[in-house]
Amino acid sequence: MKIFLDTAEIDEIRSAVSLGVIDGVTTNPSLIKHAVEKRGNVVDMEDYIREILEVTPGPVSLEVISITYEKMVEEAVTIYEKFKKYGQPVIKIPVCSSLDGVNNIYDGLRTIRELSRRGIPVNATLVMSPEQALLAAKAGATYVSPFAGRIDDYLRDRVGMKRGKDYQKQDYYNFNLMKKLENMITDKILSSKDLSSVKEVYLDEEVGKYTSLLNDNGVYSGVDLVKSIVTIFRNYNFKTQIIASSIRNARQVREVAEIGVDIVTIPFYILKEMLIHYKTIEGINDFIKDVVEQYRTIFKRK
Ligand code: E4P
Repeated sequence: MKIFLDTAEIDEIRSAVSLGVIDGVTTNPSLIKHAVEKRGNVVDMEDYIREILEVTPGPVSLEVISITYEKMVEEAVTIYEKFKKYGQPVIKIPVCSSLDGVNNIYDGLRTIRELSRRGIPVNATLVMSPEQALLAAKAGATYVSPFAGRIDDYLRDRVGMKRGKDYQKQDYYNFNLMKKLENMITDKILSSKDLSSVKEVYLDEEVGKYTSLLNDNGVYSGVDLVKSIVTIFRNYNFKTQIIASSIRNARQVREVAEIGVDIVTIPFYILKEMLIHYKTIEGINDFIKDVVEQYRTIFKRK
């Protein structure tokens, strides 16, 4: 599995790359905004992006800033041509760029198709459903980015949990627990009602409400979303690679690795989270304490 760094912060990219475990970088306009603000809004953006490309040993995703087919194609071609000499730019195109669910619904897909026809690598971004991923792959996307963490947020929102109050951004979303809860709630509803046929149970409004509340059209978590896309792509041998995105904690990294996802993109803090374990720290303290003089002698140069 490849690991990309999900940041536009050059210092983070430099230090993660120096560890030798980073294969690429993903950015988005919000991450760029953060990096610009950190520098007091004074940045030569072309130089900055060039530096990111030169430091990164693999693909660097850069997102377009428009929502229409013509503009997105134009922007994609412009930045691809401008930056390809410095590294491996990949152009991020929203799988659906509609701002209102009515207009520009197909512009993202058409842009992906056109760029892939021109040989420009595309990362289809803001993928929130397996169906979107399937369409992006058929349109020729090089990568799709399912946003696992944002789906977890959405599912927590649906049950009334508030980020910052009931859970923090980095908290693991325990979807196995939620599935058990779903069954318990359904059992309780069924035992309190006199539903005599399968049809009655199926059509019961309360049962329907709870069986759909804890999933998003059959997707139970961000990791579940990634799993579904992996299954679909393997079924049909799609070449499109899956980047598990919007990853918030180390446990999600493990779970998408278990599924066999091609790539995971992670914020810098997760690298540390992946490495630190209480028992490792305890163990190293013990080993350092237990070093005897006799053993120390072997490390001396004669
Ligand atoms: C990656 O391609 C995405 O831009 C990123 O993972 C989004 O993460 P977030 O949901 O934590 O903002």
